[in-house]
Amino acid sequence: MTTGYTVDQLRSAAADAVRAPSLHNTQPWRFRLVDGGIELSVDPLRRLPATDPSGWGARIACGAALFNLRLALAVAGTPATVRLRPRPSEPDVVARLVPDVPRRPTPTEQSLHGAIARRFSNRAPFWPDPVPADARWRLGEAARAEQCWLELVIGTSAVNAFAEIARSAHRVLERDPAYVTERTEWTRSASSPDGVPAAGGGPQSEPQDLLPQRGFGGRDRAPGRDFEPEPLVAVLGSAGNTAADQIVAGQGLQRVLLTATDAGLAVSMLSQPIEVPGAREALRLSLGRFGTPQMVMRIGFGQPGRTTPRRPIDDVLDLPVVPA
Ligand SMILES: Cc1cc2nc3c(=O)[nH]c(=O)nc-3n(C[C@H](O)[C@H](O)[C@H](O)COP(=O)(O)O)c2cc1C
Repeated sequence: MTTGYTVDQLRSAAADAVRAPSLHNTQPWRFRLVDGGIELSVDPLRRLPATDPSGWGARIACGAALFNLRLALAVAGTPATVRLRPRPSEPDVVARLVPDVPRRPTPTEQSLHGAIARRFSNRAPFWPDPVPADARWRLGEAARAEQCWLELVIGTSAVNAFAEIARSAHRVLERDPAYVTERTEWTRSASSPDGVPAAGGGPQSEPQDLLPQRGFGGRDRAPGRDFEPEPLVAVLGSAGNTAADQIVAGQGLQRVLLTATDAGLAVSMLSQPIEVPGAREALRLSLGRFGTPQMVMRIGFGQPGRTTPRRPIDDVLDLPVVPA
């Protein structure tokens, strides 16, 4: 293929890409056309210096956006060949996508693409019903298809051990005033195009809660309503922990999230045990796995909820200026 992508193709694929999750809904991405290729970069203005000093979270988010981009282009019949970090001198450039041979989308691509607009972080308590075995298997396959692994934390003692690691990481983070300020600043009203709307922030945590919920100023819980007693906790990991591994993990995360949505499942993410290095290592050791844990998910059957706002697409596109 010699012809490149057009502005219209970029605009339409980017509209799907921005539905990806991001830490505090910062939406840390930019998209542009360079010599007919779509380039996705970390937006340096949307970093979270206290919460994400290494840029791990921004790369996970951009990896997730990249997965949506790939899906959108494939479903439009214009699939891409992807190069991660194409220019070492510009580390913020996450990926470059150039047109591959046109082909029909696969049924999996179509169903995952259909899930993009329905997916959202569901922080409310789930129903106690267990996630069926075939759905668990599909989630693992989704991670493997993107060169990641997914470990399900099964059994009361394993879940309790994980919860202890997560709670201690949560306490470490909460002791850092800069982290708390950042989280407060990114907690927003429902009409804000970025940040976490307090209404979607999940209920306020209570002393009996097993897993630590990041506090986004959510409402009080209805009397007697508790979180599911045996949450399905899943840890997504990658082979290593380079910047490229984190972008790979972001793609794996999004594939798992869309597969869950397609299977009628709800997911919330909790990354405190990933953000605190000691907790991440304790988590890795408890799983007995090589590689690096990159995200933790709570998966189950959720109540209906709302998708989270995004910025207008023109805010994230760098388009060539056309002379008047
Ligand atoms: C790297 C990363 C870390 C995240 N960590 C958490 C977390 O610890 N707690 C939480 O409730 N949500 C977490 N999220 C979810 C984001 O808050 C969420 O994706 C964002 O607010 C956009 O909302 P949406 O997922 O509904 O589209 C994380 C997302 C990413 C990509």
